Amino acid sequence: MSAKVEGEPLRVAILGCGVVGSSVARMLTENADDLAARVGRRLQIVGIAVRRLGRDRSAAGVPEHLFTTDAEELVTRADIVVEVVGGIEPARTLILRAFEHGASVVTANKALLAEDGPTLYAAADAAGVDLYYEASVAGAIPLLRPLRESLAGDDVTRVLGIVNGTTNYVLDKMDSTGAGFADAVAQAQALGYAEADPTADVEGFDAAAKAAILASLAFHTRIGAADVYREGITEVSAADVAAAAEMDCVVKLLAICEVVDGAGGSEGGAPGVSARVYPAMIPRSHPLAGVREAFNAVFVEARAAGALMFYGPGAGGDPTASAVLGDVVATARHRVGGGLGPRESAYADLRPLDMGAATTRYYVRLHVADRPGVLAQVAAEFARHDVSIQQVRQDVAVTAGLAAGDADSDGEDGAELVIVTHAAPDAALSATVDALAELDIVLGVTSVMRVEGD
Ligand code: HSE
Repeated sequence: MSAKVEGEPLRVAILGCGVVGSSVARMLTENADDLAARVGRRLQIVGIAVRRLGRDRSAAGVPEHLFTTDAEELVTRADIVVEVVGGIEPARTLILRAFEHGASVVTANKALLAEDGPTLYAAADAAGVDLYYEASVAGAIPLLRPLRESLAGDDVTRVLGIVNGTTNYVLDKMDSTGAGFADAVAQAQALGYAEADPTADVEGFDAAAKAAILASLAFHTRIGAADVYREGITEVSAADVAAAAEMDCVVKLLAICEVVDGAGGSEGGAPGVSARVYPAMIPRSHPLAGVREAFNAVFVEARAAGALMFYGPGAGGDPTASAVLGDVVATARHRVGGGLGPRESAYADLRPLDMGAATTRYYVRLHVADRPGVLAQVAAEFARHDVSIQQVRQDVAVTAGLAAGDADSDGEDGAELVIVTHAAPDAALSATVDALAELDIVLGVTSVMRVEGD
């Protein structure tokens, strides 16, 4: 069977020739005949913009003369611009220039979309072209297209997932080997899972940008990176991971996006969007606990569809290029057959909520004096903040620098109290921990972590 391929080739410009860009270029070249048959027109690489010429880029499988340092000129002579440079500038200027010149854009740039997505959408609209960005969240996993298209007739209520492979690798190593954070990061760097400067991943910036994109699409509302509550994993210690293991839990960096009803504690009674990224304990029996190494997985809960799970490689050259090329084919088909991809959908206009309005559970480990009435005082603090305790356990051994039976500074033996709460507003939980830390009988708050995934 042969497909009809006719007309002038569609001109594709690639901005960036790093791990992803070189995979995109190679796949466009190696799969040229199949792609032409799927689109109905050949896709021709007209240039690849790089910062410096002269490097060996033979892996991209394209002729040397196609490399250029003049990205501004390149975008003016393309039908489709693939932006895989990353960062805010010059990516934003180049994308806007591509739209002005009538090109559709396929980008993997989560930081730019989370910071200034509405500007990009508006420019694409004004030019009557497509803006696609499947590769910006969770690499190869088809996730944005299901949210934008397949679930466009349903009501998404929650998105919960692991969207950063680097931190998942680090936390997985801490769990499986008992390594501390720094050692696990060094291991991830040695294997190429973490950058030399891992800040964007370990501080949660990468996951927060992805959460902003997911929340915007899921809830038809503009959510930017600044609206996402963010905690990274740099404070997660080997002791926290061991404590999770004791509870038959693992620690994962989670991105959580959900609609919170007014009744759930948000100010003013109207529903809002809670988007947040933090390390949390989840039970080992939860499907996300089985997501190992650098893989990503995302749960989407929708009113009619129920719970859907998306799983796969969230980074890497070829997996990310797969998502990019899917978008290239989609927009190329529009060039050939007419039509446009989905526009921005922000009509619901829900308010972004503060972290305090989110409902979660806490694991709290306290080093306390071991004498009558201590447990009652601790329990009273939870009650005063309207936080219900689910589990409490006391150990004689202490971990905060004191061995079991050692005397504390007041000459008392200490004890270790482990408390797990029922769900409560984060503001109440964090106020409870602050109040506990002030009690005389609390000698130290040794670990606090949110618990998710019931
Ligand atoms: N640095 C990201 C991760 C991949 O570790 O998942 C690109 O988004």
